[in-house]
Amino acid sequence: MNDFPRFPPEFVFGAATASYQIEGAVREDGRGPSIWDTYSHTPGLVANGDTGDIACDHYHRYREDVALLRELGVTSYRFSIAWPRIVPDGSGPVNPKGLDFYARLVDELLAAGIEPAVTLYHWDLPQALEDRGGWRVRETAERFADYTEVVAGHLADRVPRWITLNEPWCSAFLGYSVGRHAPGAREGRGALAAAHHLLVGHGLAVQALRAAGVREAGITLNLDRNLPATGSAADRAAAVRADTQHNLVWTEPLLAGRYPGTEEETWGELITAQDFRRDGDLALVGQPLDFLGINYYRPIVVADAPYQEADPARRTATDNRYKEIRLEGARHTAMDWPVVPGGLTDLLLALKERYGDALPPVHLTENGSAEHDEPGPDGAVHDHDRIAYLRDHLAALKTALDAGVDVRGYYVWSLLDNFEWAYGYGKRFGIVRVDYDTQRRVPKDSYHWYRALISAQRD
Ligand code: FCB
Repeated sequence: MNDFPRFPPEFVFGAATASYQIEGAVREDGRGPSIWDTYSHTPGLVANGDTGDIACDHYHRYREDVALLRELGVTSYRFSIAWPRIVPDGSGPVNPKGLDFYARLVDELLAAGIEPAVTLYHWDLPQALEDRGGWRVRETAERFADYTEVVAGHLADRVPRWITLNEPWCSAFLGYSVGRHAPGAREGRGALAAAHHLLVGHGLAVQALRAAGVREAGITLNLDRNLPATGSAADRAAAVRADTQHNLVWTEPLLAGRYPGTEEETWGELITAQDFRRDGDLALVGQPLDFLGINYYRPIVVADAPYQEADPARRTATDNRYKEIRLEGARHTAMDWPVVPGGLTDLLLALKERYGDALPPVHLTENGSAEHDEPGPDGAVHDHDRIAYLRDHLAALKTALDAGVDVRGYYVWSLLDNFEWAYGYGKRFGIVRVDYDTQRRVPKDSYHWYRALISAQRD
């Protein structure tokens, strides 16, 4: 197998997961409720009525899962910390048992020769904070900084890489505008305030991480390639609005110290009041980062479209006069997402072109595919489509690297099949199959393929 791409010797190969998607044990050892407990237990919101109550039972099986990682040969493992395990009520007393769990996990990883990469917020906000306004209010950003200080104070010496937020676009816009993620709100200004407070929370958390002396601090964004459906002026303008809502709302404050110049044409009067912004916020948000995490799965094709809401007063922050168009001619995964590896190269090159030296080193913190995979008669999972997906995206990443983008690492999503948010357990992203009846883990062919790719780097 000598057709594997060669990456620089220090390139990080990893695998990623997130707390609510794998841990289970939601009522154990003092964990408080999160917005995803509430959301998943609300009838009709998650496919099949699935919840994260048990998930992959990783909370009890983390040793077995670390053994899978060690066997895989990854140099880093990205996981998230459940805020409601650490500060069950969102503010106030710290739960030592929650800290202990992550300390044990970190020690297990280090003993296996794997560098932990911690995400501080992968969407499981303590419900108590949502009850006080959630990300719509600035207080949540301040409590996030307190929680970060506690966790970093405990783990900074053993965890080299820290990610403040995972995909704030999903938290702000799927959570407070589309309503497809917890807390399930459909708002305009509330979602834009949430986006801003997530950024403020990131800035405060970076300060807390620096004070704790961590080696690397960054953030993970799901940046999108937003392609106009046609060359018409209307579709191109729609693509700019999509780009503003998906990308520029994050990258402009984080990397260029300004709010997007296209925000008024995107949000109109929803953004003009801006009373949630304070002087000094841009400096806080735009502090230098050691790396930028990017999650990439697919490009999005957009066309111009009128407002979906007849009543402008009920307009949400994602009703930006565009609609997504299905990309014909590409293979689609079980998520119905088009497979376009070249979109990853284009995304990275466009970022480099826009931000130049202000673009920090990049880690691809998630990439992978959900496929309709089932064990064959031999008990193995022959997930050729996933192997092709990973192979082609790694090749696309290598192309960007060769073209001068400073890419330092790649994390496959995901180590395990897990709770895929509103889709429940029906969508399987793992390179290891999880049988949810028995909790048995079965490495798929893609696991063996990834293992061979990693080991070929050392030859
Ligand atoms: C990303 C999330 C991750 C997972 C993948 C498929 O948006 O960060 O938790 O659900 O998508």
